[in-house]
Amino acid sequence: MVYQTFCDMTTAGGGWTLVASVHENNVNGKCTVGDRWSSQQGNDPNRPDGDENWSNRNTFGAVESATSDDFKNPGYYDIVAEDMSVWHVPNTLPLEQWSLAAILRYHTNNRFLSLYRGNLLQLFKQYPVRYNIDSCSNRGPSFPIVYDHGDKESTKMLYAANSRAEFEPGFISFRAINNERAAMAICSGVKPTGCNTEHYCIGGGGYFPEGHPKQCGDFPSFDWLTRIASKEVTEAAVLLFYR
Ligand code: G3P
Ligand code: CA
Ligand code: CA
Ligand code: CA
Repeated sequence: MVYQTFCDMTTAGGGWTLVASVHENNVNGKCTVGDRWSSQQGNDPNRPDGDENWSNRNTFGAVESATSDDFKNPGYYDIVAEDMSVWHVPNTLPLEQWSLAAILRYHTNNRFLSLYRGNLLQLFKQYPVRYNIDSCSNRGPSFPIVYDHGDKESTKMLYAANSRAEFEPGFISFRAINNERAAMAICSGVKPTGCNTEHYCIGGGGYFPEGHPKQCGDFPSFDWLTRIASKEVTEAAVLLFYR
């Protein structure tokens, strides 16, 4: 498989390949065009898996525009990796500026992907991102992160004050589930301790019952009236790397 991507040869010894970016083009658009990491077909209980891009082999986007739209390359499912690195980069920035301008950069170092056959496609086959798959207490796994830019305190401050009370910063977490049994893919930078994960976790299935249709999307409910996340994090693409 031949494809163009971006590599980070600096962080913690380098060798990181960009495999995907999760970009929210319209936080008011609830599972509308551009919400590839949740659903582009509206908030719909009949589409519990949404567009299924966490667990299929579709690819989309281009590396040059990974901060302007969603990106997924074959590395997402082809690479057998051990660790992940994540950069939260302000929208539309060109790739020469990603590293310096990122609001957060961090990576894992415990080889957790080896537990899931080496990539997120396999992990999400084990933990489906699907509405009504399970209850909030049956979240997927969380792993500690090492910060390359930012820290636990700055991670906390990116989210709404009342959201901060229901997560612990310093982790990457997978397949969160909220009070209404909606599933989210990644809580990047945090480990949920509560069940309103829609305000700080990204990606999802195709149905979020609360406030229908106010919580469906790639950044599902970063704009909820009482729990508005910072503009910084809401307008930053989440770049996912493997090593
Ligand atoms: O997700 C938050 C919602 O379930 C209730 O929010 O802040 O109005 O209690 P709030
Ligand atoms: Ca949206
Ligand atoms: Ca998107
Ligand atoms: Ca809620």
